[in-house]
Amino acid sequence: MKNNRVCILGGTGFVGRHLTAKLTAMGIECRIPTRYQEPYRALRLNGPVELVSTNLFDQAQLHQLFSECDAVINLIGILNQSGNNSFQRLHVELPDMIIDACKSAKVTRLLHMSALNASTTGEVSEYLHTKGEAQNRVLTNSSSHGGLNVTSFGPSVIFGHDDSFFNRFAGLLKLTPGPFPLACPDSRFAPVYVGNVASAFANSLQNKNTWKRHYELCGPRSFTLRELVQYTAKQMGLNKRIIGLSDTLSRLQSHALGMLPGKPFSYDNYLSLQIDSVCSSDGLADLGIPATDIDAVVPYYLGPRSERSRYLKLRSLV
Ligand SMILES: NC(=O)c1ccc[n+]([C@@H]2O[C@H](COP(=O)([O-])OP(=O)(O)OC[C@H]3O[C@@H](n4cnc5c(N)ncnc54)[C@H](OP(=O)(O)O)[C@@H]3O)[C@@H](O)[C@H]2O)c1
Repeated sequence: MKNNRVCILGGTGFVGRHLTAKLTAMGIECRIPTRYQEPYRALRLNGPVELVSTNLFDQAQLHQLFSECDAVINLIGILNQSGNNSFQRLHVELPDMIIDACKSAKVTRLLHMSALNASTTGEVSEYLHTKGEAQNRVLTNSSSHGGLNVTSFGPSVIFGHDDSFFNRFAGLLKLTPGPFPLACPDSRFAPVYVGNVASAFANSLQNKNTWKRHYELCGPRSFTLRELVQYTAKQMGLNKRIIGLSDTLSRLQSHALGMLPGKPFSYDNYLSLQIDSVCSSDGLADLGIPATDIDAVVPYYLGPRSERSRYLKLRSLV
């Protein structure tokens, strides 16, 4: 890479932080735009990280942001819409602007984060529909003749010590007195480790064989949502009864919780859960990355081997 610099949109998020750590460890400079510089100052401890305040929806600022970068990585995505932040704006309009800015700033490499089951066909959630639209557009713009060389990724749910999947269920399980009501209990997932996702991006960055390709990213095992919530409870040492809700009750719960601040579970989330989040091809294997199982990681942040448990144990000894 000529400038040894990449721009990571969404670099302050869960996946972005892990990817930044990986790329900086490889000696690559990371330029990261953010709306809030202050909370992310620690990212600079990773090494060569440049945090930039940018309005991503200003084409001129986007062009400036990408100048002298060898590649752009787009990780921006939302699970729920709020105010100005619509799925259409963040998942479709922004990637269009990113493609234009890559071209004007002469950036020839783009890695794009989509989602498993992203599609513009069939009855899918707006989340998956807009992710599918962007995936189609970025891959259509991929050209190996001096243009923009694109690779896209579609992971199942991603886990890691700072995830919002296992940690969210852990919090809800703790807060819920009595049995735990669970919507869409039979939906399937193949949780993929955030370190593996970061490796998929890092390994693809300078690999021409990945140009114009889309990689599905899954962990080695698939589970129902009920099994994953039971697993979470077990790791926490909670003896919790999980009550799977019927389809009608799941839908009702999504309407009710979708009205709460922060939308813990929305109707669009309910729609996303109607399709199993499991891979039809093994993107990690194609990229030479051994898939990490949940057992190798989750007990270290939720279970008896977690830092919190060790801390409580130590306190009980003094
Ligand atoms: N986590 C998963 O299980 C999972 C599974 C499949 C696909 N994905 C996809 O992977 C990507 C990364 O996920 P994540 O879990 O790392 O997300 P995250 O932790 O929520 O991070 C989102 C990032 O997007 C930026 N962002 C959000 N709204 C923005 C806005 N309106 N304007 C500008 N920046 C905005 C945030 O930047 P600032 O707040 O610093 O400005 C943050 O860096 C997303 O595209 C997501 O759809 C995630």
